Amino acid sequence: MRLICAKNYQDMSRKAANLISAQVILCPESVLGLATGSTPIGIYRQLISWYEKGDVDFSKAVSINLDEYCGLSPRDPQSYSCFMHQNFFDHINIDKKNTFVASGMGDFEANARELEEKVREGGAADLQLLGIGNNGHIAFNEASDHLIAVAHTEKLTESTINANARFFEKKEDVPTMAITMGMGDILAAKKVVLAATGLAKVPAIKGLIMDDVITTQNPSTMLKMHEDAVVVIDRELADAVGYRA
Ligand code: PGA
Repeated sequence: MRLICAKNYQDMSRKAANLISAQVILCPESVLGLATGSTPIGIYRQLISWYEKGDVDFSKAVSINLDEYCGLSPRDPQSYSCFMHQNFFDHINIDKKNTFVASGMGDFEANARELEEKVREGGAADLQLLGIGNNGHIAFNEASDHLIAVAHTEKLTESTINANARFFEKKEDVPTMAITMGMGDILAAKKVVLAATGLAKVPAIKGLIMDDVITTQNPSTMLKMHEDAVVVIDRELADAVGYRA
């Protein structure tokens, strides 16, 4: 695992975006595993700006998203499908037919199987972008006494529901279940880029970068076994966990 410490959120976004654009420039047909949440918004903005300047071309890239809330249609503004269109796909030249976000409607178990089939069909992601939950979750693989290797439905923890409530009008509106890639799907990616910012992430990032322990109670720690995982954090977070470069 490699750690990159950025000056601030903007610098973190640029550094993570650099890794993604390098991947697409060197291999235009790359399979990108994409993430939602507030953290990657700056990364997508940076990539859009490089696309607009003609520095990166997404026309041959393929993308597959980590997760989707159960019960939200793709047109729901809170759905991850809608997030991806608004924050990234609608602003670049990726072929929408080559993007995949699991459906959050209908038969959730079947949708999870479809996500797993997509992961297998496209092959492991060339680069998987990740955020991290306050409890160390990656995608929606929640802290627990066990983790699941393949795509599945996951009951969200109270910590995740509380963290996500900021995006919804009322806490009761926050979905309590999601469809998520499994840990095996994520760890199979050839390269993983995890971006984190904000003091809410201190306990999770401490467990990820400050010791050698791997625990299902902080799913991000599984990345310690990955050959090419890059963690990009900002100075404020690095200082708060006591990391000295
Ligand atoms: P955030 O979410 O980027 O909105 O903090 C990250 C996550 O829960 O994976």
